Amino acid sequence: MKILGIETSCDETSAAFVEDGVIRTNVVASQAEQHAEWGGVVPEVAARMHVEAISGVIEAARQGEIPDAIAVTNRPGLVGALSVGVSAAKALAYAWNRPIVGVHHIEGHILSPFDSVVEPVFPFLSLVVSGGHTELFLVRDFGRYELIAETIDDAAGEAFDKGARLLGLGYPGGRALEDLAQSGNPKRYTLPQGLRHDAHRWSFSGLKTAMKRLVEVEGEKINREDAASSLQRAIVSALVAKVDAALNEHVVAGLSLVGGVAANKALRSAVEQLARRDGLQCFIPPFDRCTDNAAMIALAGAIRLERGEHDGFGFETLATSEL
Ligand code: KG4
Ligand code: ZN
Repeated sequence: MKILGIETSCDETSAAFVEDGVIRTNVVASQAEQHAEWGGVVPEVAARMHVEAISGVIEAARQGEIPDAIAVTNRPGLVGALSVGVSAAKALAYAWNRPIVGVHHIEGHILSPFDSVVEPVFPFLSLVVSGGHTELFLVRDFGRYELIAETIDDAAGEAFDKGARLLGLGYPGGRALEDLAQSGNPKRYTLPQGLRHDAHRWSFSGLKTAMKRLVEVEGEKINREDAASSLQRAIVSALVAKVDAALNEHVVAGLSLVGGVAANKALRSAVEQLARRDGLQCFIPPFDRCTDNAAMIALAGAIRLERGEHDGFGFETLATSEL
């Protein structure tokens, strides 16, 4: 089955063409530069830029082919941004007379490691870490996701981005912070780990405040590499600690790490180490499928379509939606 995937939930306009689980194309046009001067995504700007980019991105992804079905992110996300992808998808499904499915963005991330080569083993734990989400799910089967832990304030990606901004790195700063941390000493500065003894809730807001204070107190004499490295260590240990706690609570066959922050090498190796320790299969997508992309939406849509499920033309776009 040939599926056209479309993703416009935040600041990436993306379209992908997936055939029988093989990713033929995965085109991503990022707006990050345009939002950088504001230090975050401006919803109105995002929607307008999706309108400009969407047709070209879809044409580049499908390369003249007409798919058997269309999968599009319809929830959760910025409604104006989502609406651009959903409208384009509905128009094409109507014109080509093809079935369409609305995909939950987080389900897209959870299924992002799985293609024609990598198959899941159930049940597995999935750590979803992005700019907007920090959640741990117990995945019992396709479509069966149990929330085990979540953040009560900032997402892990926000903690990276805010730390990066304090250190004068651009937006989004996760990648730049990781690069700076490379040569730093992670033990130089002590940063707090919120809700350390709570197995089901993360908190990253205290870390952000502590980082701000550190930058203020140290002033000119701050070692930026060490500060970046210490922050990365604090975030990675906080994330991994709750995965470890969940592994004590649940018997699983696999462990997965997905979302934009899954591109972080320190986090990837910490999760791989846990999986190795417990003899679990480890599922982490390649770097280009960690941050938002349409291939993951096409892969998630394919599973529903193969079961004969699809949506009519009336489905909505939603800002928030539980998985
Ligand atoms: O999944 P994603 O593309 O968008 C959302 O759905 O939020 O995730 C973007 C987030 C940003 O906060 C970005 O700073 C972070 O992922 N990120 C990283 C790295 N690459 C991207 N954080 C840490 N290390 C990285 N290498
Ligand atoms: Zn995402």
